[in-house]
Amino acid sequence: MKRMAVVLAAGQGKRMKSKLYKVLHPVCGKPMVGHVVAAVKATGCERTVVVVGHGAEKVKAYLGQNAEYVLQETQLGTGHAVKQAKDLIGGEEGTTIVVCGDTPLVTEETLNAIMALHEEKQAAATILTASLEQPAGYGRIIRGENGDVLKIVEQKDCTAEEAAVKEINTGTYCFDNKKLFAALEQVTNSNNQQEYYLTDVIGILRSGGDTVLAYETRDVAESIGVNDRLALSEAEGYMQERINRKHMLGGVTLIDPASTYIGADVEIGSDTVIYPGTILKGATVIGEDCVIGPSSEIEDSVIRDGASVKHSVLNQAQVGARTTVGPFAYLRPGAVLGEDVKIGDFVEVKNAVIGDHSKVSHLSYIGDATVGTNVNVGCGAITVNYDGYNKAKTIIEDDSFVGSNVNLIAPVTVGKGAYVVAGSTITRSVSDNDLAIARARQENKPGYADKIRARAKAKKEKS
Ligand code: UD1
Ligand code: CA
Repeated sequence: MKRMAVVLAAGQGKRMKSKLYKVLHPVCGKPMVGHVVAAVKATGCERTVVVVGHGAEKVKAYLGQNAEYVLQETQLGTGHAVKQAKDLIGGEEGTTIVVCGDTPLVTEETLNAIMALHEEKQAAATILTASLEQPAGYGRIIRGENGDVLKIVEQKDCTAEEAAVKEINTGTYCFDNKKLFAALEQVTNSNNQQEYYLTDVIGILRSGGDTVLAYETRDVAESIGVNDRLALSEAEGYMQERINRKHMLGGVTLIDPASTYIGADVEIGSDTVIYPGTILKGATVIGEDCVIGPSSEIEDSVIRDGASVKHSVLNQAQVGARTTVGPFAYLRPGAVLGEDVKIGDFVEVKNAVIGDHSKVSHLSYIGDATVGTNVNVGCGAITVNYDGYNKAKTIIEDDSFVGSNVNLIAPVTVGKGAYVVAGSTITRSVSDNDLAIARARQENKPGYADKIRARAKAKKEKS
């Protein structure tokens, strides 16, 4: 049977009190609507229609080619929102799954399960429900004496008796597509919010004699609809737990899961150990047998097998196998480290390739540079890459040695096997195997220290 999806993402989310449109608020680093669309697509839906309104351009820009879009110009309710998809999919035969863009924890597994039940029983609608100790805010599932679902009543329209019901509508449903769009024609806005409720479709289908089923999830996290920042943090907590669990079951050691924040799309190889206070974000990929943290923030970076990163910040960087980074290193975009490299304390690397077995052990800045293999960059050496207007490049070739506190005024090349003496300010390139020294020659004046002290003392007494 053909499967389609409608994702509701047109609301502004007033209760978020935010400049950011609700469905774009991230949970574990990924916008809520991104989680929902990923789950839906994983179930093999042939068409995914996202209803956009508030922030339409931003939502479309974020999801891109992953969906088709319809615009809901004014937000007249969830029923009205789904109806906007009629031109696109109203004529199709098949199963349509409707999901709210603000329920980021709904899983692929549950979507598959509800669709399977729905299709097996040939129902007109199947609702994903949950039983909550605190059902406030959600639509209640009203069942008849024989247990059949009769209707959904929104919190704001509930009688006291209905409000006491603990089974709630998670906002995820499967529908027979044709029946869905037919029923939507009958939905009115005569309710306390004067909205066209999608939930009214359930009662309408039931009155028409159609089968309506409920599928209850035991994972209450799946039911969280994020309407405010409290729910957002709750969703974040559940998602964090879920992500951590997935990695731990996949063979990653998290010393302290509670203080470990791993983004939804991060990949980590087995036998890697993550120490407390570590934040892994974006499209970060970490290999096997790595040691990450404590206290490191790594975003959109690739770290290969056996590497270690301690107390450091990495953004769009690549770290080769067995390379060690930190403590207190800062790898900025375009930092590409080879294998068995050492980047030590207080070293910053930006837009620079550092070859295998090279070392930048302490207090250096390497920017806009290519460093070969087996190079040693001494303590405090820096590439002087910027004149206030232009960036210039430094090349340090294989097997060379750059002494401590050297300034390499770019553009400049240090040739293969060359030796730059400590304290030099290098303005001209150094050829292969040459030694460069660029510093004032030292002079020692015997006994002169006493003389200079006497002179200073006399000056002070006079003043
Ligand atoms: C909705 C359900 C409620 C359910 C809850 C689950 C209705 C009437 N109520 O309530 O039964 O328990 O979700 O989380 O459906 N949206 C639009 N256009 C609109 C209105 C909403 O696209 O005109 C989108 C919103 O962006 C949001 C989703 O639909 O992603 C749900 O809307 P929201 O206002 O959050 O509904 P709830 O009051 O939470
Ligand atoms: Ca909601």
